[in-house]
Amino acid sequence: MKKLLIATGGGDCPGLNAVIRGICKRAKKEKDWEVYGSREAFNGVYSDPPEIIKLTKKKIAGIHVKGGTILKTTNKADPLHFPVKDENGNVKFVDRTNVLADRIKELGFDAVINIGGDGSQKISQALFKHGLNIVGVPKTIDNDLSATDMTFGFQTAVQIASDSLDKLVTTAESHHRVMIMEVMGRDAGWIALHTAISGGAEICLIPEIPYDIKKLVEKIQSRYDKGRGFVIIVIAEGAKAKEGTIVSHAGDEGSRHVRLGGVAYQLTQQLKDAGITAEIRETVLGHVQRGGTPSAFDRVLASLFGVKAFEMVANGEFGKMVSFKNNDFIAVPLEEATKDYNFVKKDSFIVKGAKDLGITFGD
Ligand code: F6P
Repeated sequence: MKKLLIATGGGDCPGLNAVIRGICKRAKKEKDWEVYGSREAFNGVYSDPPEIIKLTKKKIAGIHVKGGTILKTTNKADPLHFPVKDENGNVKFVDRTNVLADRIKELGFDAVINIGGDGSQKISQALFKHGLNIVGVPKTIDNDLSATDMTFGFQTAVQIASDSLDKLVTTAESHHRVMIMEVMGRDAGWIALHTAISGGAEICLIPEIPYDIKKLVEKIQSRYDKGRGFVIIVIAEGAKAKEGTIVSHAGDEGSRHVRLGGVAYQLTQQLKDAGITAEIRETVLGHVQRGGTPSAFDRVLASLFGVKAFEMVANGEFGKMVSFKNNDFIAVPLEEATKDYNFVKKDSFIVKGAKDLGITFGD
């Protein structure tokens, strides 16, 4: 029997379990493969004894409708670099990619499927260079990976955000308020943009289009002047103001992650400082966008990503990532997949279209 190891890394995302189930179901057809899962990304491989579970029929039954990951995950530790103290007590990070690759082989695994975002796929690429048979599956609710048209989890996140926006509209209307809703999107504004279009927001602020506070004030003022007594603003957590009015994130010290909730409150302050007298309220959606059951679309996308990933393993197509392109499932080299990000382009049709629908970006 040949042995396959699955790992889920980075932040969790609705659809991870559907990928796991898709891989196992497709593997079953081959008869000569057994599928295992490592606990919490590659931590299970490093544990002594290893924390690796066999993914039996019973373990994967019906999991495609469940959010999160049955294998657990982490975005805290980098499995390829370990802290080591030098003779002066200073901490240095040492590359141990070969240690992880060798350990996986020593445990008897013939191949690995690594499900994760940009960081995880860079890990896949490094392990592949160290001779590991590996296939990547792209995952992120932010939809910011360039080699695929869509990542699973994104549609679910947009649906959750859009449903929340609908609820904010009725209360904004009743109180004549400015409502600010902060959504996820550290580097890319896809969730904010789709939510703003879907919910009919007046203002959408995203990392790719720095905003001018004066333009936002004009828009808000004109809404109130025309008697349309409320304003809905969707802001991505990574949105920035133009020079001179910089929003600095309330960052988590020592962490690469921005602490959610920074920008919504700072925007309120900026609007007040710029003369907005209407009442302003903030809603920070946070991790509800990543939780719960995946949408039907994400279940389909994730399940087929799983099937395709196993097919690549069976065909020996390693060093590649599964991708959804032009309505088809294809394999792209990991090197290409990790080269770029998928950012919202200022002059794209979606941005122009949003403007035509009455959305202001503040540019
Ligand atoms: O990468 C996805 C993401 O949702 C980002 O938008 C956000 O900054 C981050 O995860 C937060 O993750 P965590 O709180 O798990 O560190």
